[in-house]
Amino acid sequence: MKDSNFLKENNGRLMWHPMTSPKDSIDNPPKIITGSDGVSITDIDGHRVVDGVGGLWNVNLGYSCRPVKDAITTQLDRLPYYSTFRGTSNDVAIELSYELGEFFKPDGLSRAFFTSGGSDSVETSLRLARQYHKLRGEPGRVKFLSLKKGYHGTHVGGASVNGNANFRNAYEPLLPGCYHIPAPYTYRNPFNETDPERLAQLCAAALEDEIAFQGANTIAAMIMEPILGAGGVIPPHKSFAPMVREICNRNGILLITDEVITAYGRTGAWSGARLWGIQPDMMCTAKAITNGYFPFGAVMLGDKLIELFEDNPDAKIGHGYTYSGHPVGAAAALACLAETKRLNVIENAADRGTQLYQGCLKLMEKHDIIGDVRGGYGLMTAMEMVSDRRSKKPIDAATASTVQETAYQNGAMVRVSGPNLILSPPLVLTETDASAILNALDAGFRAA
Ligand SMILES: Cc1ncc(COP(=O)(O)O)c(C=O)c1O
Repeated sequence: MKDSNFLKENNGRLMWHPMTSPKDSIDNPPKIITGSDGVSITDIDGHRVVDGVGGLWNVNLGYSCRPVKDAITTQLDRLPYYSTFRGTSNDVAIELSYELGEFFKPDGLSRAFFTSGGSDSVETSLRLARQYHKLRGEPGRVKFLSLKKGYHGTHVGGASVNGNANFRNAYEPLLPGCYHIPAPYTYRNPFNETDPERLAQLCAAALEDEIAFQGANTIAAMIMEPILGAGGVIPPHKSFAPMVREICNRNGILLITDEVITAYGRTGAWSGARLWGIQPDMMCTAKAITNGYFPFGAVMLGDKLIELFEDNPDAKIGHGYTYSGHPVGAAAALACLAETKRLNVIENAADRGTQLYQGCLKLMEKHDIIGDVRGGYGLMTAMEMVSDRRSKKPIDAATASTVQETAYQNGAMVRVSGPNLILSPPLVLTETDASAILNALDAGFRAA
């Protein structure tokens, strides 16, 4: 291993980082993380902080989850790889598909298609949606609907349904036939509506309007996050998802919930669909499926697709990844699922989520820089920072970075994305860890 001087000298120079400008990485080299324990991480200088980001919304069980580590090493010794393409399978992938089918039974999903991560899961669901309608004899249903401010990964299909210009503009033209509906984002919306329930109705009406305008028989699927995550933790009013489900049903449109963040307990429920009491036709999952220890994902499939594909000899899936059903990923996921259930992480996610959310509301009373606090559903919380509360002018990047850096120096890694400060810590966070994050943030806001 190279020494720390070498690593610091080359940091930001040789590797292009996701979602970052290479020049910025050179000018402001990223933090070099070298160690971890429990819910904390340690950098190259030995500075240890609570990880308020949970890796990247994925390390739900923390960094010391022995059963998952053991499952990975045992599987590497037994069968490090075999493909699940036509003609072969592997024992762990079969067992995992059974366990996931049981886990997601209440969501009406009992088959799995395995992927290598969240973007893959999104791409898979969009492709299967088009194929579903072709098989049904409605080949004209090719368009996709999604929410503005939604995030659906970075493959071409996912970027096309993404609702944030930052992830789109440099790569356009994207997939034709993707249309975006206003998000139920109470703090800022085109209707100037401040009542969440009324706003949910307006957004649902906008969805109906777009369907009528496009023609329902041209639309394959609506994809949405049950709670918008990367777009700034935007939970809709509880009436919103059921209204979307009903509208999709009425118009023959598949509903895909993108639960790359929300599945496996983050919202204080086992899935975002279950949180809102709906059953999607497909659900995209990844991230916490292996606690971030191995790149892996699964699209879970409901009855509409199962009945059609499993009854039709022509329904050949012309899609898949070398690492679909990777035995090491599957072993990690099996161990992760068992540990997630054993620890009943939804309970702690809900309790610590309430603590963080209430704590952020208290910080808002003290610091004018906080314009909005969003959360209240498990360990997904965001604060939107503004330079002026009345005009809601977003904070400038330098001030946002002062908050982040001061919080880091005071004991917590937090994530800044545009004007949003996002908290998504491991679901095994303790009360003391949550207080440490809030104290570090207090210092950050004071410095700003
Ligand atoms: C809702 C959602 N969908 C898809 C993705 C893409 O996942 P990945 O980065 O694993 O490709 C993400 C990543 O944050 C996500 O939050």
